[in-house]
Parts: sequence; structure tokens; C-alpha cells
Amino acid sequence: MTSMLSVRNLTRSFGAVRAIDDVALEVGPGDIAGVIGPNGAGKTTLFNTISGFSAPDQGSVVFEGADITRMAPHRIAARGLVRTFQTTRPLHTSTVRENVVAGTHLRSSGGLLSSLVTTPRVRRSEREAAELADTLLATTGLDHAADAYPRELGGGQLRLLEIARALATRPTVVLLDEPAAGLNQTETRHLEKTLLAVRDQGVTLVIVEHDVELVFRLCDHVTVLDFGRVLRHGAPAEVRADPAVAEAYFGASRATAESEGS
Ligand SMILES: Nc1ncnc2c1ncn2[C@@H]1O[C@H](COP(=O)(O)OP(=O)(O)OP(=O)(O)O)[C@@H](O)[C@H]1O
Ligand SMILES: [Mg+2]
Repeated sequence: MTSMLSVRNLTRSFGAVRAIDDVALEVGPGDIAGVIGPNGAGKTTLFNTISGFSAPDQGSVVFEGADITRMAPHRIAARGLVRTFQTTRPLHTSTVRENVVAGTHLRSSGGLLSSLVTTPRVRRSEREAAELADTLLATTGLDHAADAYPRELGGGQLRLLEIARALATRPTVVLLDEPAAGLNQTETRHLEKTLLAVRDQGVTLVIVEHDVELVFRLCDHVTVLDFGRVLRHGAPAEVRADPAVAEAYFGASRATAESEGS
């Protein structure tokens, strides 16, 4: 299979803790891939090492045929691989629309001269940026909040803003770290439709999510991490039916510990 994103033998330790340990992940173009696992399984660390925010100790990350292991996050993003954060990071002094427009600038070909001189080309690219931002605000259902400031948004809307900002960079792959966290049922359904629409436009998605039912519904294939290792990889139905996954993810002792911890 042709891979859009290929992760091989990826390992990253923090002291004695192997946050991820020999992890492999293959994502094809147009896939929606899921990564699930209990708290502390290494999901965010996997995203951090893929997207350049944390250097792996071992292993490689190949994106569209190029080795991007240990490349700086902005260079990886400029190539078309972006990620969202578990904790949202909007620009607080900008409106929702301005936040999304700012995202479009990552890949615009302006340069210093064009920021000083308003040429027809710059005007055109600004118009295109504004149009893209408005399209993304409509796609994510944030159009009515376009002129609001992030502090006026609820948790679910902040997550949608984070996704709109990522899409504004015109990525080919987006890594989404817990996009449904804090969303209510209506917002989750909206998110689901949004992600399917985004995929249908040709964007490849990798989703880390605690809402496993959402992952099983959305994803073409699912990787289960447990204590930093790949416990299982397969189609949603196979993963769901695996007793080892049920034990790791839904196991009685852990379920109790998790509900006590949250
Ligand atoms: N910067 C860090 N310094 C030290 N330990 C870390 C660091 N980042 C992660 N870890 C440890 O690595 C392990 C994996 O953490 P990670 O955040 O990747 O898990 P996760 O699967 O994303 O968990 P959650 O579902 O709670 O978000 C945990 O034991 C965590 O404590
Ligand atoms: Mg995490």
C-alpha cells in the first residue's frame, strides 16, 4: 500500500518511562486512522514525535516519501502535516475569524516584500485567505461566532476553532489530539460530520480520542496503544472484538481507577 504517513519503530522515553516503545503506524492517503488507549498509553507522545514537538530516541517518521524524523514542527507543518493540541491554543487577542485567517498564512507565499507592498498578487492571496477562512468557519459551524473572541467560546467551540485553524494551513494530514473532549452530543455529531467532510475533500486524518465509539464509527483502521506499545492494530470491528483490547481499555480495575481519577 502507498503510505501517506509511515511511522517505524518509534521510541521515546522520559527517564525510566518508555512513553512510546517501538511503535509502528501506516496511514494511507484519505484514511481516517484512529489511535486509542488508556490514559498515559503514549498517544500524545506519539503525536509529539511525529509532528516534531518532541524528538524520538529511535525510529523514523516518513511523510509523503520524505524522512521528517526530528525536523522542526514549523517545517513539518509547511510540508502539510499539522496537529491540534489536547489543550486548545487560540490567539486570545484575535477574533475567531482572525484566528482562522492567521492559520492560512503558514503556506502563503508572501515574503517580506509583499508584507510591505500591497501588490495585486497580495490582494488576491488575502482575498483567498478570507474566503478559505469563511468556508472553514461554515464547515465547522463557527460562522455565527466569527467576530467573537476565543474567551467567549465554550469548550466545544474552542475545539472546533482549533480544527479550523489546522485546516486553514491547507494540510494533507491532520493529527487530532482528542477533538471530541469536552464536546456535548450535538457538538460531537457535528464534529463527526465535519471530519467526514474534511476527509472527502482529500485530507488524511489521524485521530487520538477517548470516545472509542466515535473512533470505531469514523476510522478505517485503529491502533491500540497500551503502556507505550502497540497492543493491536486492525479494522474497528476486529479491534472491538479483541478481548486483550477490552481488558486494557475497558478492564474493570482500570475503568474504576479512571473514573476515580477524573
Ligand atoms: N514531558 C514529559 N515528561 C515526563 N514524562 C512524560 C512527558 N510526556 C509524557 N510523559 C509520560 O509518558 C507517558 C505517556 O504520556 P502521554 O501524554 O503520551 O499519554 P496519553 O496516551 O496521551 O494520555 P492521555 O490519554 O491522558 O492524554 C505517561 O506516563 C506520561 O506521564
Ligand atoms: Mg494525551
